[in-house]
Amino acid sequence: MQSRVTLGTWPTPVEPAPRLAAAIGLRPGDLWVKRDDLTGLGAGGNKIRKLEWTIGAALAEGADTVVTTGAPQSNHARLTAAAAARTGLDAVLVFPGVPGTSRSGNLALDGLFGARVAWAGDAGPDGLAAAAARVARQLQHQGRRVAVIPFGGSSSLAARGYAECGRELLDQVPDLRTAVVAVGSGATMAGLVAAIGADRVLGVDTGAIPDPLPTVASFASEAGGTLVTSAQLAVRRDQVGGGYGDYPAQAAAALQLAARTEGLVLDPVYTARALAGLAAAVRDGQVAAGQRTVFVHTGGLPGLFGHAAAIEQAQHGLEQFPLDMKRRHGKA
Ligand SMILES: Cc1ncc(COP(=O)(O)O)c(C=O)c1O
Repeated sequence: MQSRVTLGTWPTPVEPAPRLAAAIGLRPGDLWVKRDDLTGLGAGGNKIRKLEWTIGAALAEGADTVVTTGAPQSNHARLTAAAAARTGLDAVLVFPGVPGTSRSGNLALDGLFGARVAWAGDAGPDGLAAAAARVARQLQHQGRRVAVIPFGGSSSLAARGYAECGRELLDQVPDLRTAVVAVGSGATMAGLVAAIGADRVLGVDTGAIPDPLPTVASFASEAGGTLVTSAQLAVRRDQVGGGYGDYPAQAAAALQLAARTEGLVLDPVYTARALAGLAAAVRDGQVAAGQRTVFVHTGGLPGLFGHAAAIEQAQHGLEQFPLDMKRRHGKA
Protein backbone atom coordinates (compact mmCIF):
# COMPACT_ATOMS: atom_id res chain seq x y z
CA MET A 1 0.00 0.00 0.00
CA GLN A 2 1.33 3.46 -0.88
CA SER A 3 0.50 6.37 1.40
CA ARG A 4 0.58 9.99 0.42
CA VAL A 5 0.68 12.73 3.01
CA THR A 6 -0.66 16.18 2.10
CA LEU A 7 2.05 18.82 2.46
CA GLY A 8 1.17 21.47 -0.14
CA THR A 9 -1.74 23.63 -1.28
CA TRP A 10 -3.47 22.26 -4.38
CA PRO A 11 -4.10 22.91 -7.17
CA THR A 12 -1.41 25.49 -7.84
CA PRO A 13 -2.58 28.39 -10.04
CA VAL A 14 -1.85 28.96 -13.72
CA GLU A 15 -1.33 32.54 -14.85
CA PRO A 16 -1.07 34.17 -18.29
CA ALA A 17 2.33 35.68 -19.16
CA PRO A 18 1.59 37.86 -22.22
CA ARG A 19 4.55 40.23 -21.95
CA LEU A 20 7.03 37.38 -21.47
CA ALA A 21 5.39 35.51 -24.38
CA ALA A 22 5.86 38.47 -26.74
CA ALA A 23 9.44 38.99 -25.55
CA ILE A 24 10.47 35.44 -26.53
CA GLY A 25 8.65 35.41 -29.89
CA LEU A 26 5.30 33.81 -28.99
CA ARG A 27 1.91 35.51 -29.32
CA PRO A 28 0.79 37.23 -26.12
CA GLY A 29 -2.00 34.69 -25.47
CA ASP A 30 0.20 31.61 -26.04
CA LEU A 31 2.09 31.39 -22.76
CA TRP A 32 0.85 30.45 -19.30
CA VAL A 33 2.86 29.78 -16.17
CA LYS A 34 2.03 26.87 -13.84
CA ARG A 35 2.93 28.31 -10.45
CA ASP A 36 4.48 25.27 -8.77
CA ASP A 37 6.70 27.74 -6.95
CA LEU A 38 3.54 28.45 -4.91
CA THR A 39 3.13 25.00 -3.37
CA GLY A 40 3.02 26.41 0.16
CA LEU A 41 5.26 24.56 2.59
CA GLY A 42 8.79 25.71 3.37
CA ALA A 43 8.94 28.54 0.77
CA GLY A 44 7.50 26.29 -1.96
CA GLY A 45 8.73 24.53 -5.07
CA ASN A 46 8.36 21.32 -7.07
CA LYS A 47 9.90 19.03 -4.47
CA ILE A 48 6.78 19.21 -2.29
CA ARG A 49 4.73 17.13 -4.73
CA LYS A 50 7.39 14.41 -4.67
CA LEU A 51 7.85 14.57 -0.89
CA GLU A 52 4.11 13.97 -0.37
CA TRP A 53 4.82 10.43 -1.59
CA THR A 54 8.30 9.78 -0.18
CA ILE A 55 7.58 11.26 3.26
CA GLY A 56 4.24 9.44 3.15
CA ALA A 57 6.11 6.15 2.59
CA ALA A 58 8.59 6.98 5.39
CA LEU A 59 5.74 7.61 7.83
CA ALA A 60 3.95 4.43 6.73
CA GLU A 61 7.16 2.45 7.45
CA GLY A 62 7.32 3.94 10.95
CA ALA A 63 10.43 6.07 10.34
CA ASP A 64 11.33 8.77 12.85
CA THR A 65 14.26 10.23 10.84
CA VAL A 66 14.82 10.99 7.17
CA VAL A 67 18.21 11.22 5.49
CA THR A 68 18.77 12.73 2.07
CA THR A 69 21.55 14.08 -0.16
CA GLY A 70 22.13 17.06 -2.40
CA ALA A 71 24.31 20.11 -2.95
CA PRO A 72 24.47 22.62 -0.07
CA GLN A 73 22.06 24.86 -2.03
CA SER A 74 19.65 21.97 -2.72
CA ASN A 75 15.97 22.95 -2.86
CA HIS A 76 15.10 19.30 -2.30
CA ALA A 77 17.13 19.20 0.92
CA ARG A 78 15.48 22.42 2.16
CA LEU A 79 12.00 21.09 1.45
CA THR A 80 12.83 17.70 2.99
CA ALA A 81 13.81 19.62 6.14
CA ALA A 82 10.53 21.58 6.01
CA ALA A 83 8.45 18.45 5.38
CA ALA A 84 10.21 16.69 8.26
CA ALA A 85 9.41 19.62 10.56
CA ARG A 86 5.78 19.56 9.43
CA THR A 87 5.39 15.82 10.05
CA GLY A 88 7.44 15.53 13.26
CA LEU A 89 10.44 13.70 11.76
CA ASP A 90 14.13 14.49 12.27
CA ALA A 91 16.10 15.30 9.12
CA VAL A 92 19.79 14.77 8.38
CA LEU A 93 21.05 16.30 5.12
CA VAL A 94 24.24 14.90 3.58
CA PHE A 95 26.15 17.46 1.52
CA PRO A 96 29.54 17.43 -0.19
CA GLY A 97 32.07 19.92 1.16
CA VAL A 98 33.02 21.18 4.57
CA PRO A 99 31.19 23.42 7.04
CA GLY A 100 31.36 27.16 6.49
CA THR A 101 31.62 27.18 2.67
CA SER A 102 28.07 28.47 2.17
CA ARG A 103 25.86 30.34 4.63
CA SER A 104 22.85 31.77 2.82
CA GLY A 105 19.87 30.74 0.70
CA ASN A 106 18.61 27.20 1.19
CA LEU A 107 21.25 26.36 3.77
CA ALA A 108 20.01 29.11 6.07
CA LEU A 109 16.48 27.69 5.78
CA ASP A 110 17.76 24.15 6.49
CA GLY A 111 19.02 25.47 9.80
CA LEU A 112 15.76 27.27 10.49
CA PHE A 113 13.80 24.04 9.92
CA GLY A 114 16.01 22.28 12.47
CA ALA A 115 17.78 19.88 10.11
CA ARG A 116 21.27 18.54 10.88
CA VAL A 117 23.93 18.53 8.17
CA ALA A 118 26.55 15.82 7.63
CA TRP A 119 29.42 17.21 5.51
CA ALA A 120 30.85 14.46 3.29
CA GLY A 121 34.01 16.23 2.08
CA ASP A 122 35.14 15.79 -1.48
CA ALA A 123 32.38 13.37 -2.53
CA GLY A 124 30.96 12.74 -6.03
CA PRO A 125 27.50 11.20 -6.56
CA ASP A 126 28.57 7.70 -5.45
CA GLY A 127 30.54 9.03 -2.50
CA LEU A 128 27.53 11.05 -1.40
CA ALA A 129 25.22 8.02 -1.59
CA ALA A 130 27.80 6.03 0.42
CA ALA A 131 28.00 8.82 3.00
CA ALA A 132 24.18 8.81 3.31
CA ALA A 133 24.24 5.05 3.89
CA ARG A 134 26.90 5.56 6.61
CA VAL A 135 24.82 8.28 8.26
CA ALA A 136 21.77 5.98 8.17
CA ARG A 137 23.76 3.14 9.82
CA GLN A 138 25.06 5.51 12.51
CA LEU A 139 21.52 6.67 13.26
CA GLN A 140 20.25 3.08 13.36
CA HIS A 141 22.94 2.22 15.94
CA GLN A 142 21.51 5.10 17.98
CA GLY A 143 18.11 3.38 17.82
CA ARG A 144 16.57 5.60 15.15
CA ARG A 145 14.23 4.27 12.47
CA VAL A 146 15.61 5.78 9.28
CA ALA A 147 14.20 6.34 5.79
CA VAL A 148 16.64 7.43 3.07
CA ILE A 149 15.11 9.69 0.42
CA PRO A 150 17.04 9.47 -2.88
CA PHE A 151 19.10 12.25 -4.50
CA GLY A 152 16.88 15.13 -5.63
CA GLY A 153 13.89 13.31 -4.14
CA SER A 154 13.43 11.40 -7.38
CA SER A 155 12.03 7.88 -7.75
CA SER A 156 9.12 6.36 -9.61
CA LEU A 157 7.07 6.75 -6.42
CA ALA A 158 7.96 10.46 -6.25
CA ALA A 159 7.03 10.89 -9.92
CA ARG A 160 3.42 10.21 -8.97
CA GLY A 161 3.38 13.67 -7.43
CA TYR A 162 4.11 15.16 -10.83
CA ALA A 163 1.57 12.97 -12.56
CA GLU A 164 -0.91 14.79 -10.30
CA CYS A 165 0.49 18.13 -11.52
CA GLY A 166 -0.03 16.92 -15.11
CA ARG A 167 -3.66 16.09 -14.36
CA GLU A 168 -4.16 19.56 -12.84
CA LEU A 169 -2.70 21.08 -16.00
CA LEU A 170 -5.07 19.14 -18.26
CA ASP A 171 -8.01 20.55 -16.25
CA GLN A 172 -6.65 24.09 -16.19
CA VAL A 173 -5.29 24.31 -19.75
CA PRO A 174 -7.18 21.73 -21.83
CA ASP A 175 -5.65 22.94 -25.13
CA LEU A 176 -2.09 22.52 -23.79
CA ARG A 177 0.40 21.78 -26.57
CA THR A 178 3.72 21.90 -24.71
CA ALA A 179 4.65 22.02 -21.03
CA VAL A 180 8.25 23.18 -20.51
CA VAL A 181 10.08 22.11 -17.36
CA ALA A 182 13.57 22.01 -15.87
CA VAL A 183 15.12 18.54 -15.56
CA GLY A 184 17.39 17.73 -12.62
CA SER A 185 17.15 14.29 -11.05
CA GLY A 186 14.24 13.48 -13.38
CA ALA A 187 11.00 12.67 -11.51
CA THR A 188 9.34 16.03 -12.21
CA MET A 189 9.48 15.62 -15.98
CA ALA A 190 8.72 11.91 -15.62
CA GLY A 191 5.47 12.52 -13.75
CA LEU A 192 4.34 15.08 -16.32
CA VAL A 193 5.13 12.65 -19.14
CA ALA A 194 3.14 9.91 -17.36
CA ALA A 195 0.07 12.16 -17.14
CA ILE A 196 0.07 14.22 -20.32
CA GLY A 197 2.22 12.20 -22.73
CA ALA A 198 5.84 12.46 -23.89
CA ASP A 199 4.88 14.45 -26.99
CA ARG A 200 3.56 17.33 -24.89
CA VAL A 201 6.50 17.76 -22.49
CA LEU A 202 9.74 19.58 -23.28
CA GLY A 203 12.44 19.09 -20.65
CA VAL A 204 15.42 21.40 -20.29
CA ASP A 205 18.40 19.62 -18.76
CA THR A 206 20.27 21.43 -15.97
CA GLY A 207 23.13 18.94 -15.76
CA ALA A 208 22.31 17.29 -12.41
CA ILE A 209 22.92 13.77 -13.75
CA PRO A 210 25.05 12.68 -16.71
CA ASP A 211 22.19 11.47 -18.95
CA PRO A 212 18.66 12.14 -17.73
CA LEU A 213 16.86 10.38 -20.62
CA PRO A 214 16.91 6.75 -19.37
CA THR A 215 16.16 7.92 -15.82
CA VAL A 216 13.15 10.01 -16.89
CA ALA A 217 11.94 7.18 -19.16
CA SER A 218 12.13 4.60 -16.40
CA PHE A 219 10.41 6.78 -13.75
CA ALA A 220 7.70 7.75 -16.26
CA SER A 221 7.09 4.11 -17.25
CA GLU A 222 6.77 2.98 -13.65
CA ALA A 223 4.68 5.95 -12.50
CA GLY A 224 2.28 5.79 -15.46
CA GLY A 225 2.18 2.02 -16.00
CA THR A 226 2.88 2.44 -19.74
CA LEU A 227 6.29 1.96 -21.35
CA VAL A 228 8.05 5.24 -22.18
CA THR A 229 11.37 5.03 -24.05
CA SER A 230 14.23 7.55 -24.14
CA ALA A 231 13.59 8.00 -27.87
CA GLN A 232 10.11 9.37 -27.16
CA LEU A 233 11.37 12.11 -24.83
CA ALA A 234 12.21 15.69 -25.82
CA VAL A 235 15.00 17.05 -23.62
CA ARG A 236 17.12 20.04 -24.64
CA ARG A 237 20.73 19.78 -23.51
CA ASP A 238 21.80 23.25 -24.72
CA GLN A 239 21.42 25.08 -21.40
CA VAL A 240 23.64 22.93 -19.16
CA GLY A 241 26.75 25.10 -19.61
CA GLY A 242 29.34 24.27 -16.99
CA GLY A 243 26.78 22.60 -14.73
CA TYR A 244 25.23 23.64 -11.42
CA GLY A 245 27.92 26.10 -10.32
CA ASP A 246 27.95 27.87 -13.68
CA TYR A 247 25.64 30.77 -14.54
CA PRO A 248 25.41 30.85 -18.34
CA ALA A 249 24.61 34.19 -20.03
CA GLN A 250 21.34 32.82 -21.49
CA ALA A 251 20.13 31.79 -18.02
CA ALA A 252 21.04 35.19 -16.58
CA ALA A 253 19.17 36.91 -19.44
CA ALA A 254 16.12 34.69 -18.95
CA LEU A 255 16.05 35.37 -15.20
CA GLN A 256 16.10 39.12 -15.84
CA LEU A 257 13.52 38.90 -18.64
CA ALA A 258 10.94 37.06 -16.51
CA ALA A 259 11.44 39.56 -13.70
CA ARG A 260 11.13 42.62 -15.95
CA THR A 261 8.21 41.45 -18.09
CA GLU A 262 6.03 39.70 -15.52
CA GLY A 263 7.46 40.38 -12.04
CA LEU A 264 8.18 36.65 -11.98
CA VAL A 265 11.25 35.53 -10.03
CA LEU A 266 13.12 32.50 -11.33
CA ASP A 267 16.12 30.75 -9.78
CA PRO A 268 19.56 30.72 -11.44
CA VAL A 269 20.06 26.94 -11.56
CA TYR A 270 16.78 25.41 -12.78
CA THR A 271 13.98 27.73 -13.86
CA ALA A 272 16.22 30.34 -15.52
CA ARG A 273 17.76 27.54 -17.62
CA ALA A 274 14.26 26.19 -18.39
CA LEU A 275 13.10 29.60 -19.64
CA ALA A 276 16.30 30.03 -21.65
CA GLY A 277 15.55 26.59 -23.15
CA LEU A 278 12.00 27.66 -24.04
CA ALA A 279 13.29 30.86 -25.70
CA ALA A 280 15.80 28.77 -27.70
CA ALA A 281 13.02 26.31 -28.63
CA VAL A 282 10.93 29.20 -30.02
CA ARG A 283 13.94 30.48 -31.96
CA ASP A 284 14.63 27.12 -33.59
CA GLY A 285 10.96 26.23 -34.20
CA GLN A 286 10.61 23.39 -31.65
CA VAL A 287 7.87 25.50 -30.00
CA ALA A 288 5.74 27.52 -32.43
CA ALA A 289 3.78 30.75 -32.01
CA GLY A 290 0.03 30.13 -31.90
CA GLN A 291 0.34 26.99 -29.76
CA ARG A 292 -0.62 26.90 -26.08
CA THR A 293 2.58 26.62 -24.06
CA VAL A 294 2.89 26.27 -20.30
CA PHE A 295 6.09 27.12 -18.48
CA VAL A 296 6.18 25.04 -15.29
CA HIS A 297 7.71 27.25 -12.61
CA THR A 298 9.28 24.78 -10.21
CA GLY A 299 10.42 27.31 -7.58
CA GLY A 300 13.92 27.60 -6.15
CA LEU A 301 13.83 31.25 -5.08
CA PRO A 302 15.96 30.71 -1.92
CA GLY A 303 18.71 29.39 -4.20
CA LEU A 304 18.93 32.85 -5.78
CA PHE A 305 20.02 34.26 -2.44
CA GLY A 306 22.69 31.59 -2.12
CA HIS A 307 24.12 32.19 -5.60
CA ALA A 308 26.84 34.84 -5.50
CA ALA A 309 27.06 35.38 -9.28
CA ALA A 310 23.29 35.74 -9.72
CA ILE A 311 22.97 38.22 -6.85
CA GLU A 312 25.96 40.19 -8.11
CA GLN A 313 24.44 40.44 -11.62
CA ALA A 314 20.98 41.33 -10.32
CA GLN A 315 22.40 44.15 -8.19
CA HIS A 316 24.59 45.28 -11.06
CA GLY A 317 21.39 45.75 -13.11
CA LEU A 318 20.01 48.13 -10.49
CA GLU A 319 19.80 51.45 -12.30
CA GLN A 320 20.40 54.64 -10.37
CA PHE A 321 17.79 57.38 -10.49
CA PRO A 322 19.55 60.75 -10.35
CA LEU A 323 17.77 62.58 -7.54
CA ASP A 324 17.61 66.31 -8.26
CA MET A 325 18.51 67.92 -4.93
CA LYS A 326 18.10 71.48 -6.25
CA ARG A 327 14.34 71.31 -6.80
CA ARG A 328 12.30 72.15 -3.71
CA HIS A 329 8.65 71.48 -3.11
CA GLY A 330 6.50 74.54 -4.04
CA LYS A 331 9.24 76.22 -6.11
CA ALA A 332 9.40 76.35 -9.90
C1 LIG B 1 13.70 24.60 -8.47
C2 LIG B 1 13.86 23.26 -9.12
N1 LIG B 1 13.31 23.07 -10.33
C3 LIG B 1 13.42 21.89 -10.98
C4 LIG B 1 14.14 20.84 -10.44
C5 LIG B 1 14.23 19.56 -11.20
O1 LIG B 1 13.40 18.57 -10.65
P1 LIG B 1 13.82 17.05 -10.77
O2 LIG B 1 14.98 16.83 -9.86
O3 LIG B 1 12.61 16.29 -10.36
O4 LIG B 1 14.18 16.78 -12.19
C6 LIG B 1 14.74 21.00 -9.19
C7 LIG B 1 15.56 19.92 -8.62
O5 LIG B 1 16.37 20.09 -7.75
C8 LIG B 1 14.59 22.24 -8.51
O6 LIG B 1 15.15 22.45 -7.29
